[in-house]
Parts: sequence; structure tokens; C-alpha cells
Amino acid sequence: TKTKHVRIEEEDESLISALPTREGWWEPFFLLQGFWLSPSITKSVMVLRDQFHPRHNDISLATYPKCGTTWLKALAFAITNGSDHPVTGYCHPLLSHNPHDLMPKLERPFQHLTRTLTLGRVVHLCREPKDVLCVRMVPHQEGAPRLVHRVDRAFEFFCEGFSFYGPIWEHYLGYWKQSKMEGEKGLFLNYDEMIAEPTRHVKMLAEFLRVPFTDEESRGAVEEVVRLCSFQNLKSLPVNSQGVSKRNGLENSSFFRTGKVGDWTNHMTVEMAQKLDCIIEEKLRGSGLTF
Ligand code: A3P
Repeated sequence: TKTKHVRIEEEDESLISALPTREGWWEPFFLLQGFWLSPSITKSVMVLRDQFHPRHNDISLATYPKCGTTWLKALAFAITNGSDHPVTGYCHPLLSHNPHDLMPKLERPFQHLTRTLTLGRVVHLCREPKDVLCVRMVPHQEGAPRLVHRVDRAFEFFCEGFSFYGPIWEHYLGYWKQSKMEGEKGLFLNYDEMIAEPTRHVKMLAEFLRVPFTDEESRGAVEEVVRLCSFQNLKSLPVNSQGVSKRNGLENSSFFRTGKVGDWTNHMTVEMAQKLDCIIEEKLRGSGLTF
């Protein structure tokens, strides 16, 4: 009811105002259960924690921002809706909708997901941290929110773990450990490996989503999914080159930049790369996860 809703909002406001906060990005971030979140995301997480009740067969797609969320959403949509929407069809929803407008979005890093994880399953997509940082440092579209004022500042913040949804290593490690402990509940994917071998990963994803490709359809159908969801194909569609997201008003083209692995070499000095590599190596040491 409205009264209950107002009460939860008031409680959340007072909990949020008690959280550690820090300035430096485009607005002050709050530290909630070890992760730096913007004020609106902090609020969403709290509302979800109170009001979202996951079901046994729920599947969550979890990504640190800029790790390939758009691609993973497109693939998961194409795979799970294959019987209603054949991928070769001229009217496939991905031809007229941005992937973000076809999949609901919840705002939660791993530590906030525990209830879902005990019930449902999670696909996580990670990416070489240097490339993730580059996407954040290089605003590529006129009018897109400028994430940072100065590259060196953004770099230092990222290395400290003070980044949107950061520290990135904590984000990765939560899902990584879960996928190692309970393989049937968590699939941990890597953007660079998917770019290198898309067909193998699409098959793996379909199996995890419990809609595996049959042997005889396997070859052609898997390749059609890969092609439909490819960077070149999605980027070239009018909806993605000219459209605006219904969800957040962002231009859809802002989700597509180069789609390349290793673009960090064009934006980072060798010293910066070495420093970040050392930090990531140290933070992930002993986990078995490497970049
Ligand atoms: P680059 O900036 O390196 O090009 P997210 O979707 O999580 O915001 O991630 C954005 C990154 O994924 C961008 O990387 C974007 O170009 C890339 N991307 C978007 N769609 C893709 C697709 N279909 N295949 C591969 N990469 C894609």
C-alpha cells in the first residue's frame, strides 16, 4: 500500500544517510556492503532487497558495467525465445529493439543477490579490467553522461576500488567463487574468450539456460544466433544507430563503441597498465581467476 511504501522509503532514506559516502565521480557514491553505488542505485538495491522475491527458475544476467551486458542480453534473449522468435525471421525483436529494452534490469552486485542465488541461477560476464576502465575513461558520444573529468583521476579511483559498482575485483570474485562452488547455479564467462570463440560460448550459454541446441540444428542455428547478436550486426541496425532507449532515455548507440579486445593500448600508458595489472593480480591471487 501507499503508506507502507512511504514508510519503506523513509527507512531507506535514513539507512542511506548513515552509509559511508565519498565524492569524486559525477555525484557522491555510497558504500553499501562493500560496493560503491550512486544514490539512485543505492536506493534501488534497498527497495529490491525488501520487495523482490525471486523464484526457483529465475535466471539473472550479472555484469560489471561495460563488460558486455548488451551482448549478453541479446544472446540470452535470442536463445531463450528461439521457439517464439526464430533467429532467421525478418521480424525478430532484436532487429527493432535495443537489447536493454527486451530484458528487465535489476541493480545488484553479488553481495546483494544472495537470496536469488540460493534459489535461481546466474550468468556472469567479466572482461579484462584495463578494457573496462577504458570504456569508462573515453566517453564516445556527444551528449552521453561524462563519467569523469580527468583520465588520471578516473584511473586512480579505479585502482583504489572506488568506481561505480566497484571494486571491480570484488564484483568478479563474488560470482567467480559461486560458479566454482556451485557450477550448476553459476556460469562465469569472459568477454575476450567469447569474442575469440563465440559459437562455443553460445552453445555453453544455451545449455546453462536449459534450452540446448539439438545436434542436427546445432551448427546452423548457433551460427545464426552469433550473427544476429554480433557487434557489427546490432550496431548497424537503425534502432541502435539512431534510436533512444525507452528505459533510460540514453541514445542506443552509446552501448556500441568498438567491440574490440585490447583497445586499452590506445588509451593507457605502459606504466598505467602495469600498475593496474599488479593490483588485479594481487586482488585475485589464490582464486584461480586471471587476466
Ligand atoms: P567497447 O567500448 O570496448 O567497444 P556494456 O554493454 O556492458 O555497456 O558493455 C559495452 C561494451 O560491449 C562496449 O565495448 C561495446 O562496444 C561492447 N558491445 C556491445 N554490443 C556488443 C556485441 N553485440 N558484441 C560484442 N561487444 C559488444
